[in-house]
Amino acid sequence: MRTPFIAGNWKMNMLSGEAEDFFKEFLPAVKDVQSVKIAVCPVYTLLHQVSELVRDSNVKLGAQNVFWEEKGAYTGEISPPMLKDVGCEYVIIGHSERRQHFGETNETVNKRVKAALAHGLTPIMCCGETLEDRENGKTFDVVKSHILEGLQGVYESGKEEVVLAYEPVWAIGTGKTASPDQAQEVHAFIRNLLQENFGEDIAQRTIIQYGGSVKPKNIAELMSQPDIDGGLVGGASLKADSFTALVKY
Ligand code: PGA
Repeated sequence: MRTPFIAGNWKMNMLSGEAEDFFKEFLPAVKDVQSVKIAVCPVYTLLHQVSELVRDSNVKLGAQNVFWEEKGAYTGEISPPMLKDVGCEYVIIGHSERRQHFGETNETVNKRVKAALAHGLTPIMCCGETLEDRENGKTFDVVKSHILEGLQGVYESGKEEVVLAYEPVWAIGTGKTASPDQAQEVHAFIRNLLQENFGEDIAQRTIIQYGGSVKPKNIAELMSQPDIDGGLVGGASLKADSFTALVKY
């Protein structure tokens, strides 16, 4: 059985005072939630503070990106051991905003995923088509290349855990959610790809989150789909009341 997993992707938002206010309200509101795993992924500058705030709670910490080298002359980068050191368990990798604005490719996604796993972080690896891809009938080709190239050589021992997030780019931050059927169709396609390429065990235990305008009003229907195991939530994770409603869907 896959435990549902809902992660908040704060993107480039929130200052320290806002983070403090958020958790003052959020932690007591969700402290009894046991059936859903919860994570929050703030900007790097808030990781230390949020790590302290969520210590001993049922909320886990994630980062929004990671470099693949351990240390050295890479000005501006952050390595997997540094994220572990500050208390991260998760790291988002290959978000479409990084692909779009910062030159992320399947190859660099793959390097980051491997480095994260090698240091005991669980990657949340993102995939998803643009509106143009969808209109040109390329959704499945694009998702397939994101998944198979991103995961190339990753399941070496078969014990590796990678969370996947299907995020159609046209649904991110636009208020246009994929319909539950549209999302389920791609999630089932991804699970099938996992099975064909990595076997039944990995296919059945891999959490596949949906992302793209997930809101309190649409989460229950999305989560009722057989292959949707959670959500990667941007905008609606920035307010304690809406993120609470999401994790208590
Ligand atoms: P959104 O973002 O919920 O604001 O659409 C989701 C994401 O980009 O992870």
